[in-house]
Amino acid sequence: MLRGKFPPLWSYASYFDFSNNNFTSVIPDNISNTLPDLIFIILSKNNFHGFIPPSICNASGLRVLDLSHNHLNGSIPDCLMKSLEVLNLRNNQLNGNMPQNIPRSCNLRTLDISENLLQGQIPLLLANCIALEFVNIGDNQIDGTFPCHFMAMSGLRVLVLRSNKLHGEIRCPHNHNTWQMLQIIDLSSNDFGGTLPMSLLASLEAMKANKDFNHLQYQFLDYYHDEHYYEATMSATLKDLRLELIKIWTIFTLIDFSRNRLEGPIPDTLGDLKALYVLNLSHNAISGPIPPILGNLHEIESLDLSVNYLNGSIPPQLANLDFLSLLNLSNNQLVGNIPTSGQFLTFAKSSFEGNLGLCGLLLNKSCSITTNGTEVVGDNGDDDDSEKKWFYMGIPLGFVVGFGFFVVH
Ligand SMILES: *[C@@H]1O[C@H](CO)[C@@H](O)[C@H](O)[C@H]1NC(C)=O
Ligand SMILES: *[C@@H]1O[C@H](CO)[C@@H](O)[C@H](O)[C@H]1NC(C)=O
Ligand SMILES: *[C@@H]1O[C@H](CO)[C@@H](O)[C@H](O)[C@H]1NC(C)=O
Ligand SMILES: *[C@@H]1O[C@H](CO)[C@@H](O)[C@H](O)[C@H]1NC(C)=O
Repeated sequence: MLRGKFPPLWSYASYFDFSNNNFTSVIPDNISNTLPDLIFIILSKNNFHGFIPPSICNASGLRVLDLSHNHLNGSIPDCLMKSLEVLNLRNNQLNGNMPQNIPRSCNLRTLDISENLLQGQIPLLLANCIALEFVNIGDNQIDGTFPCHFMAMSGLRVLVLRSNKLHGEIRCPHNHNTWQMLQIIDLSSNDFGGTLPMSLLASLEAMKANKDFNHLQYQFLDYYHDEHYYEATMSATLKDLRLELIKIWTIFTLIDFSRNRLEGPIPDTLGDLKALYVLNLSHNAISGPIPPILGNLHEIESLDLSVNYLNGSIPPQLANLDFLSLLNLSNNQLVGNIPTSGQFLTFAKSSFEGNLGLCGLLLNKSCSITTNGTEVVGDNGDDDDSEKKWFYMGIPLGFVVGFGFFVVH
């Protein structure tokens, strides 16, 4: 490990990787004047502080700049949007606006400026960067509305806008359905309102079942250095863990709209996204029933619909989802039986709590039948032993046991 001040620079170097050391200095102001042929600069995971030196603009051949995981402050120089293909400034203390002057010739494919203190709006000229595949602006203080101008990026694979101050509807006036490649869309923890964007969801071809679909691969820099593929990383909340996802996902798909103010029903079009792995709509104001067609999401591993106003019963079709390892329906207005087959045997009690009308063994709440045959929830709460025995018997026999039976018993 190298530490302390930055070492002297060799001219004529073009690939420059000092990541994962312990440099504590500022980035030398002459870095690009002494190294005119620089193509890659990777200084991630050090303790660099101070500004990004403006002289970096003189490195006109620079393609990859990774200064992530340092303590840099000040603003992002506009010129970085000129020649770069990969810009990673994640996890610093950069402030001010995002760069506004973005030329038509923008070549960016990866832009990660997440986990900083950036403010203002997403610049409209970012639409000049039509080659962008990976955009992570998450964990800043960006405001404004949903960036419909990103529809110009027809190859967009990953869009992360989480934890900002974005508001308005997730809807574009002229939806040309161009995000056919989008595999990850994370809009969580913003202030988005309105209903779930039906036509946008319907256009996400990469999330529909298609094994031959050419899912995310980061091959585009191979021609520079065989051993030094640039790895775009991001973290997503999957199964309650913050995972650092490295580029080698052959296929991973995620929709996270949690912690906004979305309302209205869950549209049936969601059921078409048969290659979806993670869906999180929790902490919104979504209402209406859970559409049985969600039982078509055969790849889904994590489905979080908690803290909404969903009503009706749990569709038995959800029990067919073989890969579902996390389900959260807590804090809604659901009623009726919790299914007792398939993956439902593995879910925790906390997945169903906070629904006054749900019943079943898991919640210690008996389901019984009224005289006209519809299910109602037995009153419960007490730890009466005879009631438990009755219930434990009822399940293996496969009966819906009536209240009368309980009395006789
Ligand atoms: C940037 O950080 C340096 C220390 O690394 C500090 O002296 C300076 O005041 C900071 N500037 C701003 C604008 O926060
Ligand atoms: C860029 O290079 C030119 C010529 O070498 C030099 O005069 C200028 O000061 C440099 N700009 C910065 C910001 O370092
Ligand atoms: C869904 O999102 C909420 C809020 O953003 C988060 O707390 C929760 O852990 C997420 N659920 C899953 C299963 O990751
Ligand atoms: C379900 O969500 C609630 C509220 O967001 C949370 O308290 C609970 O731990 C979650 N349960 C599971 C199993 O994820």
